[in-house]
Amino acid sequence: PKDVGILAMDIYFPPTCVQQEALEGHDGASKGKYTIGLGQDCMAFCTDVEDVISMSLTVVTSLLKKYQIDPKQIGRLEVGSETVIDKSKSIKTWIMQIFEEYDNTDVEGVDSTNACYGGTAALFNCVNWVESNSWDGRYGLVVCTDSGVYAEGPARPTGGAAAVAMLIGPNAPISFESKYRGTHMSHVYDFYKPNLASEYPSPFPGLLMGSYLRHATLWPLILVITTTAASKFEKFEGKQFSISDSDYFVFHSPYNKLVQKGFARLYFNDFLRNTSVVAKDAKEKLEPFTKLSGDESYESRDLEKASQQVAKPLYDAKVQPSTLLPKQLGNMYTASLYAAFASVIHNKHKTLVGQRIVMFSYGSGLTSTMFSFKLQNGQHPFSLPNIASVLNVSEKLERRHVVSPEKFVETLKLMEHRYGAKDFETSRDTSLLTPGTFYLVNVDSMYRRYYARK
Ligand code: ACO
Repeated sequence: PKDVGILAMDIYFPPTCVQQEALEGHDGASKGKYTIGLGQDCMAFCTDVEDVISMSLTVVTSLLKKYQIDPKQIGRLEVGSETVIDKSKSIKTWIMQIFEEYDNTDVEGVDSTNACYGGTAALFNCVNWVESNSWDGRYGLVVCTDSGVYAEGPARPTGGAAAVAMLIGPNAPISFESKYRGTHMSHVYDFYKPNLASEYPSPFPGLLMGSYLRHATLWPLILVITTTAASKFEKFEGKQFSISDSDYFVFHSPYNKLVQKGFARLYFNDFLRNTSVVAKDAKEKLEPFTKLSGDESYESRDLEKASQQVAKPLYDAKVQPSTLLPKQLGNMYTASLYAAFASVIHNKHKTLVGQRIVMFSYGSGLTSTMFSFKLQNGQHPFSLPNIASVLNVSEKLERRHVVSPEKFVETLKLMEHRYGAKDFETSRDTSLLTPGTFYLVNVDSMYRRYYARK
């Protein structure tokens, strides 16, 4: 099969959100800390009637319907998630209800879990399946679904929630350039969730994205991974890879400031490799930092500021179009990278044909891959304009309901008690859900979960 990749996409996020500006006031944070400091606008969250399973059911049903896909035509279903509802039963098995209804139980695949990387693992599994001898000619389907919530404190504004579904097959408008993939995986303790009694990550001072991870793993990682991917690019294309070889860069987004800094680091690496993308005046501004050792450069605030400043025009052109949904929804973990990608389709679908998009997937622990897509117009219904229209990003964002910080905190308190609990009924308040949305009705005395559809 040729041009294997993403044929179709859809996204679902809860209709409930809290404004970061209001949260700043409520939390007593200084004005601008969440909006400018972290770069976030708004945060989506699930109320007691929604969770990662209901969001998956909703997004899969919606994708099948909007692209008119016969559920029998799905031969592989892979889920990426780091939200633990059951330590054994996969989210995939819940989604099978949709396919069982059509007598299709011949569907390979289970869940992939490693922090925010599970969605990328699921995507690669589907793409590799279509490219393999095991492929039976049907579609692959990938679901990335997560709900990120944090205990009260500085990390709370970095939550988020969404589910993304992607249909995989040949002749795709969004095809993989598999040859240029660069992967870096190793054992580190950066962000992890060892406390199984709580949905929240444990707060480990000094081990947060903002400090430790960025310096000790993320920046060196960006160097290693671009070097790996770039050397493969060079081998096949016969020229050095630089930022100018890609039209857009899409990053996993724990919060937007980290994306700004990540791209600046990519730019600094291009400067060190003396690529043509770095202009003369930028070279002059970065020159003083060439004397720093690797470790010193990771710690240097001056370098961080200078590289962000000189990279800004390229950030605006090549990164900013991907930031809409991550800024509006927050960190959707496995769905974050693909919601960022959906933002590019939403913003730029008219001009993407023939362009390249570099994707940077990161999951703590750590797992990461840099890979790229090549864009074509595609055939209806699998065309870029149709994908943009199904994603329907503006309307979905506009019809959301802004909730007060007090109500948000109250909901999270309730969910703390519900986490891992049995024998309860939800409020069944579906007033904010659009017709067709799945919701949780109850969990019985044997922890079995029951969902209904509005
Ligand atoms: N106006 C403008 N900017 C401000 C203001 C203000 N009033 N106040 C602070 N800032 C800036 C700070 O200067 C800083 O920016 P900088 O890094 O460019 O200097 C930024 O806002 C954050 O402020 P800090 O004081 O560093 O924030 P704090 O120490 O409270 O930490 C943070 C907040 C970064 C969210 C931290 O709690 C954290 O890392 N949380 C965890 C998030 C996480 O781990 N996510 C990962 C999930 S796993 C994954 O996605 C891979």
